[in-house]
Amino acid sequence: MLKEMRFESKPVSSFHKHNRLLVKFAASFLLLGLAFRLFYSDSIGLSVEPPPLADHETEPSSVPSFPPQTPPGPVDFPGNSSQTSQNVAVKCDIFTGDWVPDSSGPRYTNESCHVMESHQNCMKNGRPDSGYIYWRWKPRDCELRKFNPQRFLALMRNKSWAFVGDSISRNHVQSLICILSQVEQAVEVYHDKEYRSKRWHFPSYNFTLSVIWTPFLIGADIFEDMNGVSTSEIQLYLDKIDKTWTNQYNSFDYVVIGVGKWFLKTAIYHENNTVSGCHSCPGKNLTELGFEYSYRSALRVVFNFITHSDHKASVFFRTTTPDHFENGEWFSGGHCNRSLPFKEGEVDLKDVDNVMRNIELEEFEKAAKGSEEGVNLKLLDTTHLSLLRSDGHPGPYRQFQPFAKDKNATVQNDCLHWCLPGPIDTWNDLVMELLVNGDKYR
Ligand SMILES: *[C@@H]1O[C@H](CO)[C@@H](O)[C@H](O)[C@H]1NC(C)=O
Ligand SMILES: *[C@@H]1O[C@H](CO)[C@@H](O)[C@H](O)[C@H]1NC(C)=O
Ligand SMILES: *[C@@H]1O[C@H](CO)[C@@H](O)[C@H](O)[C@H]1NC(C)=O
Ligand SMILES: *[C@@H]1O[C@H](CO)[C@@H](O)[C@H](O)[C@H]1NC(C)=O
Ligand SMILES: *[C@@H]1O[C@H](CO)[C@@H](O)[C@H](O)[C@H]1NC(C)=O
Ligand SMILES: *[C@@H]1O[C@H](CO)[C@@H](O)[C@H](O)[C@H]1NC(C)=O
Ligand SMILES: *[C@@H]1O[C@H](CO)[C@@H](O)[C@H](O)[C@H]1NC(C)=O
Ligand SMILES: *[C@@H]1O[C@H](CO)[C@@H](O)[C@H](O)[C@H]1NC(C)=O
Repeated sequence: MLKEMRFESKPVSSFHKHNRLLVKFAASFLLLGLAFRLFYSDSIGLSVEPPPLADHETEPSSVPSFPPQTPPGPVDFPGNSSQTSQNVAVKCDIFTGDWVPDSSGPRYTNESCHVMESHQNCMKNGRPDSGYIYWRWKPRDCELRKFNPQRFLALMRNKSWAFVGDSISRNHVQSLICILSQVEQAVEVYHDKEYRSKRWHFPSYNFTLSVIWTPFLIGADIFEDMNGVSTSEIQLYLDKIDKTWTNQYNSFDYVVIGVGKWFLKTAIYHENNTVSGCHSCPGKNLTELGFEYSYRSALRVVFNFITHSDHKASVFFRTTTPDHFENGEWFSGGHCNRSLPFKEGEVDLKDVDNVMRNIELEEFEKAAKGSEEGVNLKLLDTTHLSLLRSDGHPGPYRQFQPFAKDKNATVQNDCLHWCLPGPIDTWNDLVMELLVNGDKYR
C-alpha cells in the first residue's frame, strides 16, 4: 500500500517542484526516470518472498513442442539446419515481419517462474485478457524457431552471459530465466544492495547469468533517493566508461547491451574533466547539447571499449525499446489498453525513439566496420517488432489486483516494461537465432 501511494504521489509533486520550466517532453522523461526508480525500489520486496515450490513437477509436460534435439556437435539449430540456415542467410531479415496468431501459448506460466518480478506478472496481477500471449513473431521471409532451453543450456556449459543496461535489460533477463526454468531453476548467487544487479547460476550446466544495472553505460552520478526523488541533476561523464560493468567484462562470454530512456533525463555533461554542456537545464547558463549528443558519445565510448578490449566476448547490441503511452504520458493518465498487436505499417515510432535508433544504427555500423578480427558484434534490432506490441505491457496491472476494491480506481500505468510471459520472450528467440546462425547476419 505504501508503495502504491508513493508511486502515485511523488511524480506529481516533483513535477511541480522541479520541472516547471522544462519542455513537456523533457519533463516526461525526467519523471519516467522516477518510474524506473520506483520499479526498482518496489522490486526489493520480491526477493524476500519464498520461491514457489514444485516447479519441476509440471515442467516437462508444460513445455510446448520444441524442435527435436540433435546430438551435441556443431553450433547450429536442431533439425533441417543447412536448408534453413541458407534460407535465412540469403533472404531473411528476422527483424522484419508481422505477429501472427499462435495457439501454442507461452512457455512458462505466472506460477512456474520464481524470478519474475510482481510488476511484470500481469496474469497474477489480474489482467483480464490473455490474447496477448497467443502470438508469435513471423519474419517476412522465413520462420523463427522458438528458443530451445535444453539446447541453449547444453551449448552454454561453463559459459557466462551478462545483460547490461537499465530496467529493460532486467525485464529481458527475467524472460530468459523463466524460459530456462523449464529445464532448471536458476540459483541466485549475488545481488547488489538495491537488488538492481544480480547473478544466477544453473548448477547442472555450470552456466552463469548476470544482469548489471548501468542505465547510461558510462560514468554517471545519480542523485535519487529510494523514492526516486532527485535532489540534484545527473552528472554524466561522456568520455568515461562505467567500470561497474567493464570491471567484470573479462568474465563474460556473451553480453547483451541495451539502454536509452535515461538519456532523456536532465543531466549535466562532463568531458575532459570540465563541464561541456547539459540536457534540459534552463537557468544554468550551460550549452544545451541535447540527449542526442550524450547518447552518441556514450555509444562511441562503449563500442570503443568493446572493439579494443583484449577480451573477445560475443556482444549483442539491442536497439531502443518503444513505450506505448497513449492519450498522455505515464504520469498524466497515459494508458495502453489495446488487446491486439498492430500490423506492420499501422504505427510509427515516436520521434524520440526514431532519433535514438538512428544513432544506435550509425554507431553500431561504424563499430562493426572498424572492429578487429575476433570481435563478435551483433545487432539485436528489436525496436520495430516491439513497436507493434502495444498490447504486451502491464498497463494498470503492474500492481496486484488494482481494481479489486474500486473498479474506477485511478492506477499508474506501465506501458514501457513488458508482461511476463509476453512479447519480450521473442527477444530470446532472436538472440538464439543470432547465436546459432549469427554468421549469416553480418
Ligand atoms: C527440410 O528440408 C527439405 C528439403 O531439403 C524440405 O523439403 C523441408 O521442408 C525442410 N523442413 C523444414 C522443417 O525446414
Ligand atoms: C496462472 O497459472 C496457473 C498455473 O498454470 C493457471 O492455472 C492460472 O490460470 C494462471 N492464472 C491466470 C490468471 O492466467
Ligand atoms: C567444463 O568445465 C569442466 C571443469 O573445468 C571441464 O571438465 C569440462 O570439460 C568443461 N565442459 C565444457 C563443455 O567445456
Ligand atoms: C565452471 O565454468 C568455469 C568457467 O566459466 C570454469 O572455470 C569452472 O572450472 C567450471 N566449473 C566446473 C565445476 O565445471
Ligand atoms: C576533449 O579533448 C579532446 C582531445 O584533447 C578534444 O579533441 C575534444 O574536442 C575535447 N572536447 C571538449 C568538449 O572539450
Ligand atoms: C554565462 O556564461 C558565459 C560564459 O561561460 C559568461 O560570460 C556569462 O557571464 C554567463 N552569464 C551569466 C548570466 O552568468
Ligand atoms: C481504452 O481506454 C480508453 C480511455 O479510457 C477508452 O476510451 C477505450 O475504449 C479503451 N479501449 C479499449 C480497447 O478498452
Ligand atoms: C464507476 O464509475 C461509473 C461511471 O462513472 C459509476 O456509474 C459507478 O457507480 C462507479 N463505480 C464505483 C464502484 O464507484
